[in-house]
Amino acid sequence: MIIAFLNQKGGVGKTTLAVHFASALSRMGKKVLLVDADPQGSSLDWSASRPDDPTFPVVGLPKPNLHKELPIIGINHDYVVIDGPPRVNELARSAIMASDIVIIPVQPSPYDVWAAKEIVDLLQEASTFKENIKSAFVINRKIVNTAIGRDVGEALAAYPLPVLKTSICQRVAFAESAAHGLTVLDTEPTGVASQEINALTREILEL
Ligand SMILES: Nc1ncnc2c1ncn2[C@@H]1O[C@H](COP(=O)(O)OP(=O)(O)OP(=O)(O)O)[C@@H](O)[C@H]1O
Ligand SMILES: [Mg+2]
Repeated sequence: MIIAFLNQKGGVGKTTLAVHFASALSRMGKKVLLVDADPQGSSLDWSASRPDDPTFPVVGLPKPNLHKELPIIGINHDYVVIDGPPRVNELARSAIMASDIVIIPVQPSPYDVWAAKEIVDLLQEASTFKENIKSAFVINRKIVNTAIGRDVGEALAAYPLPVLKTSICQRVAFAESAAHGLTVLDTEPTGVASQEINALTREILEL
């Protein structure tokens, strides 16, 4: 099963959610491979600052023929998680072609809702020859106790893709844990951030 976190818009949380999703799967005892398809190499940077005993490998593969190589590289893994690139359509297209599920992080802002058209268009283009691909939005960096998260959920309903029930809130723990090559599952395993990640992971697997 190959799951990609994609959005050509930068800074929406592709890397944060890909790293956390991969970590959550690994903690469930699954064999996970995290593929960094972004030339910036953020997941690779994260893995380089990880403690010495990594629970799953991270490889860099920012290439437009990702979809041809992944079936070979990903063999022997239960799940391959792709951290997608911003901007470059060629790479995003290849990641879509490689994937069974595409998760699109969006921030609760109208700019993100408008910008999501690009990835929705790419997905629709791909759907003609990838009929069974599943995709969904996830709202990331929702501000606790504000209505904008709900408003964005409603605005996203104009697109033909579902919005996941689980939202991820704006929490400093996400950035803090990343600084040490960790996730919130390591730094606060019973905290609210971890609960959100576990709920998101379950919801994605149910797709
Ligand atoms: N839920 C969150 N709460 C707090 N900070 C977050 C959250 N999600 C992401 N961030 C922070 O926002 C910034 C952008 O996130 P991230 O790098 O995951 O986005 P991205 O989509 O991968 O960006 P790029 O397009 O550059 O690859 C990072 O500094 C990250 O730590
Ligand atoms: Mg990134």
